[in-house]
This record gives sequence, C-alpha cells and structure tokens, in this order.
Amino acid sequence: MKKTLALVLSLLLLFSLAACSSKTEEPKSKLDQIKEAGELVLGTSADYPPAEFHVMENGEDKIIGYDITLAQYIADDLGVDLKVVDMAFDGLCISLSKGEFDLVISGMSMTEERLKSVDFTVPYYHGEQVILVRTEDADLYNTTADLAGKKVAVQSGTIQVPVANELFGEENVVTLVKNQDIILELQNKKVDVAYIDKMPSLAFASANSDIMVKDVGIVIDNEGQSIAVQKGNEEFLEYLNGIVTKLLEDGSIDQFIADAQTIAGVDE
Ligand code: ARG
Repeated sequence: MKKTLALVLSLLLLFSLAACSSKTEEPKSKLDQIKEAGELVLGTSADYPPAEFHVMENGEDKIIGYDITLAQYIADDLGVDLKVVDMAFDGLCISLSKGEFDLVISGMSMTEERLKSVDFTVPYYHGEQVILVRTEDADLYNTTADLAGKKVAVQSGTIQVPVANELFGEENVVTLVKNQDIILELQNKKVDVAYIDKMPSLAFASANSDIMVKDVGIVIDNEGQSIAVQKGNEEFLEYLNGIVTKLLEDGSIDQFIADAQTIAGVDE
C-alpha cells in the first residue's frame, strides 16, 4: 500500500515537473505564428478612402486602398495570404489587444491613450486636418472661430473627437461609427460640418459634388499614421519598422498612395 502511494506521488511529481518545463519553453514568436497559420490577419475600418474602402470589382465586393497595399506587401514578404477583417474603427484597438488580428492598418495615429493597449511602428503617413461642408455653405467657414456652435459629425474613437469637442462645443458633436454615415448626415443637413482627416475628405468631396473641403486651419499635434500591433511582440514590431522604413525610403509608399488616390479620384 505504502509502495503504491509512493509510486503515485512520484508519478504526480514527474507530471507536474513536465508541466512546468513545458511552460518555460520559449513561446512561438508572432512571426512564426503567422507563417505557421499561413495568413496575416489585418484589422481595419474600411470606410476611409483612399486608404481602405470598398469597391465592386466584377460584381464582387473588395476592400482596397494604400493601407491594404501595404498589408499585402507585408503578407507577400512573409509568404502568407492576407485576410482583411473590416470592423468599426472604435473597436480596432480592443480587438487587436485581444489578439483577434495580427496588425491594424487603418489610418491610425499613435496616441498616448492607444499606446496603453497596443504598440505602434514608425509612421508611414502624415495627415492634415480640414472640414467638409455643403458646397452652398462654403463661404461661412474660413477660420476655426467659425466652428463654434455649429453642429459637427465625427467618427467614434478617432483623434477628431476631442478636437471637435473643443472647437464646436461638446453638445454640438455627433459621433458616428462609419464615415459614410457622417457624409449622409452632412448631405441631409442633420449637421453643418463633417470633420474627417484631409485625405479621406478629399476623396468624399470628389465623389459627392454637393459637399466640399475647407481648410480652416485646424492643426493636430500627432505623430502621423502607423501600423499597430499587439503589445509584447518586439521582434514583429522591429520587422515591421524595417519594412515601413524601406518602403518610405524607396518611394513605394508614395506610389501606393498615388495609385489609391487615382482610383478614389483624389488629385492632390
Ligand atoms: N487618423 C484618425 C485617428 O487615428 C482617424 C482614422 C480613421 N480611420 C478609418 N479607417 N476610419 O483617429
């Protein structure tokens, strides 16, 4: 009896030791995980032309844009397929931090707040700030002082929200999930102004003759738009920084942007 107990105990000890040692085994790096899975999963909010937007190609709905081209370049470099997950912009950081995607490329600027939950690469693009107004109202908006008390629509979770609160007054700010709905609110006179980054604003104005871009001198102090990754993947982050730096230096990013601008009808 004693012997069996001793045996059971020593077996238990052995098992627990084995369990411990397998725990201390090096976890697979993100790069290896992606290569093993055979796909790179990109999270994006595809409502932001020319960076990420839907088009119909041969009767099929596709997501294209310069952020997507950048993601495709990374997938090709890793030798894997690209899978694009389209979701609300304000959910991207949470989903990324939970590991639902490998990376987020979505015109996303690095901010202190976002750095609490995700990491960012060096910026690949620097955006500017303008507003969209109905063409017939164009003369009403010339400086930021003209914005006070006007009603504005902005995208939920973007860096535009706090700026709009300050310039328009919190009670005049409507936050919406998708940029297309912001444009509709403006066209339907539910709001006076739509406030979206300059590049997509130019694309929306080019696609809708009843609205136009006005530069009223809004300046946001931010680090530009970067790729976001889950925290704690230093090797993956370094790899992505290498790619972004190379593509900036050899002019590829400019080319990705120019190609997407042509499709989205932006000529600036
Ligand atoms: N640049 C802004 C931000 O970082 C807006 C980005 C919105 N992107 C999008 N795909 N809708 O908050």
